[in-house]
Amino acid sequence: MRFAVLISGNGSNLQAIIDAFKKGNINAELALVVSSNSKAYGLKRAEAAGIKTMVFSPKDYTNTQSVDRDMIIHLKQEKIDFIVLAGYMRVLTPFFIKKYPKKIINIHPALLPSFKGANGIKDTFTYGCKIAGVTVHFVNEKVDNGPIIMQEAIKIKAEDTLDTLEEKIHKIEHRVYPKAIALFAEEKLKVKARQVTILDKPADEEPKQGKYRPAKRNPPKTHPLTVAEEHAPVVIKPHPPMVAE
Ligand code: GRF
Repeated sequence: MRFAVLISGNGSNLQAIIDAFKKGNINAELALVVSSNSKAYGLKRAEAAGIKTMVFSPKDYTNTQSVDRDMIIHLKQEKIDFIVLAGYMRVLTPFFIKKYPKKIINIHPALLPSFKGANGIKDTFTYGCKIAGVTVHFVNEKVDNGPIIMQEAIKIKAEDTLDTLEEKIHKIEHRVYPKAIALFAEEKLKVKARQVTILDKPADEEPKQGKYRPAKRNPPKTHPLTVAEEHAPVVIKPHPPMVAE
């Protein structure tokens, strides 16, 4: 399987994913890094790791739907099977999400369903919570709402500041996210309604009625573009190359 990581900024989670991938801990190919922001530091991390990058900046398009349509065209061309959001600061349109059903995962720096949105850590801290945490979840058409894959909690200590809490949360993210991605790549996540079960073996090798079914690797199901979508004109301005600092 081939996957793309979508970013908008620093890319510290991307770095953790790159490191796990390079160590052979993720059994899928990190084929592409996509950014919504041409100045994202994460692009430099990807380039340093020799991973192909693309930028789809909303300001280059007339509307959100065009951004997503252009991204889908390129992701399908790159034969991307699943998508990992790592600090991607755009809300994907239903059009995009339908093209990768249950094949987009996200990390959120709070214990969902609390503190959805762009400021999960700050919102947890200023609310006065005694526990903070991290959630890895599938992406559905509502923001920060899809089935939960993993969560890890941490106590907020009296001496914690927003800065120390942020540092602790990111540390957890960098440990947990590559593990969740590895499980997805190994087809060990079974989703039924909102429940995600972590399997010991890939789904198609799970015992059924006391017997093991023979392993049968079906190609992942994604929805290809229709002919009309494939040929619809896309309004895009050429993008200047990134200049390394
Ligand atoms: C992370 O805290 C992640 O949970 C959230 O955005 C932040 C991205 O940080 N979705 P980075 O770009 O990976 O450093």
